[in-house]
Amino acid sequence: MTDPASERRRMATALVNEDVLKSPWLRAAVETVPRERFLRPGVFLDEGRTWRPVTAVGTDPDEWLGIAYRVDTLTTQLDGHVTADEVDEPVVGVPTSSSTDPATVVGMIETLGLSTSHRVLEIGTGTGYSTALMCHYVGDDNVTTVEVDAQVAARADAALEAVGFSTWTVAGDGLLGHPYRAPYDRVIATCAVRRVPYAWIRQTRPGGVVLGTVGSWPWGTGLARLTVGDDGTAEGSFIGRSSFMQARAQAVAPVAGDLSARTAYADSERRTRVSPLVLEEWMPAFLAQLAAPGAQFVRATGSDGSPLRYLFDPERESFAEFVVDGESWTVRQGGPVPLWDDVERSLVAWQDAGAPEIDSVRLRVTAASHRYWIDQAPSLRWEHRIA
Ligand SMILES: C[S@@+](CC[C@H](N)C(=O)[O-])C[C@H]1O[C@@H](n2cnc3c(N)ncnc32)[C@H](O)[C@@H]1O
Repeated sequence: MTDPASERRRMATALVNEDVLKSPWLRAAVETVPRERFLRPGVFLDEGRTWRPVTAVGTDPDEWLGIAYRVDTLTTQLDGHVTADEVDEPVVGVPTSSSTDPATVVGMIETLGLSTSHRVLEIGTGTGYSTALMCHYVGDDNVTTVEVDAQVAARADAALEAVGFSTWTVAGDGLLGHPYRAPYDRVIATCAVRRVPYAWIRQTRPGGVVLGTVGSWPWGTGLARLTVGDDGTAEGSFIGRSSFMQARAQAVAPVAGDLSARTAYADSERRTRVSPLVLEEWMPAFLAQLAAPGAQFVRATGSDGSPLRYLFDPERESFAEFVVDGESWTVRQGGPVPLWDDVERSLVAWQDAGAPEIDSVRLRVTAASHRYWIDQAPSLRWEHRIA
């Protein structure tokens, strides 16, 4: 019979070897917090097109521990309500809650630079596992965690209680932070946001840190680490690539249906200078979201089997449609915002600047705007004004 403690030590060693886990206190937390207790009633394992439910009850204990201590994301909810105990067969669905890959969670917690006196606000409780790792160090009274899904929050709270942490688990929209326990020294979000909510900055002490994934595409998103200033603004940079499920209130319905109706009326047509296929790469996708916030990238296939690509901004009723012709692409643009002109300008300037990585991008957040820029490329700056 597998010993859970030895599984935890094995996982901790793996994270140390990957150079993710560095702090002795965090190693102690990883070696102590029983991840398997946070996965109840069960998980969905990715089988390509379907998700196979595996429940804690009824699964061989060794197999269950083997699953729990995979250094992998474990999906615990599909489509906003389905849990593994509710289905017997593999199902299709979209993950809406999970225990994030411990390597990601541990890496983020390392980045927070926690000390034992810190008060932490976590957005996106999920299973509560990451909450528990932080509670282990700063104490449960210093951690407030907000989960938008009341049932997920209740399960996490029960799991936290069961392992000895009477933490502040709040069911609510984390985009609002949790003003009643502010100010915080650290804010950590384990769901992605289209932009960093100013509420998080306002609820953080000067000198405090806000850490979260910014972007709205399933790829091309970055982990922002901001330090809050005395003047109520926050500034910092993207410290790496990062991928999380979108904050529910900001999740956008994918553009679907009759795409030809959406692109019926073009205002311009021209050859592209850059292939739209670069938007399938991380950094160009990241830049596209800065240059055309609100735009979605859509892949499709024409009736003749040829690839089609689109940018749609449903809110601003604008589109760019890309049609391939041999090696080159033609773009048809329509609506008030020339989406591809804006994106392409950024992509060309970025290539001219030597294609710097995501950690060259800086961000300043005020109550009224979000400014992004790259120091080594003066033309690469984007200002997103709130309303
Ligand atoms: C990736 S999971 C969190 C993983 C978790 N930290 C862990 O390690 O188990 C993301 C969670 O964010 C939650 N979430 C999504 N939108 C949210 C919002 N607006 N406010 C608070 N939580 C949100 C989801 O319901 C989901 O449970």
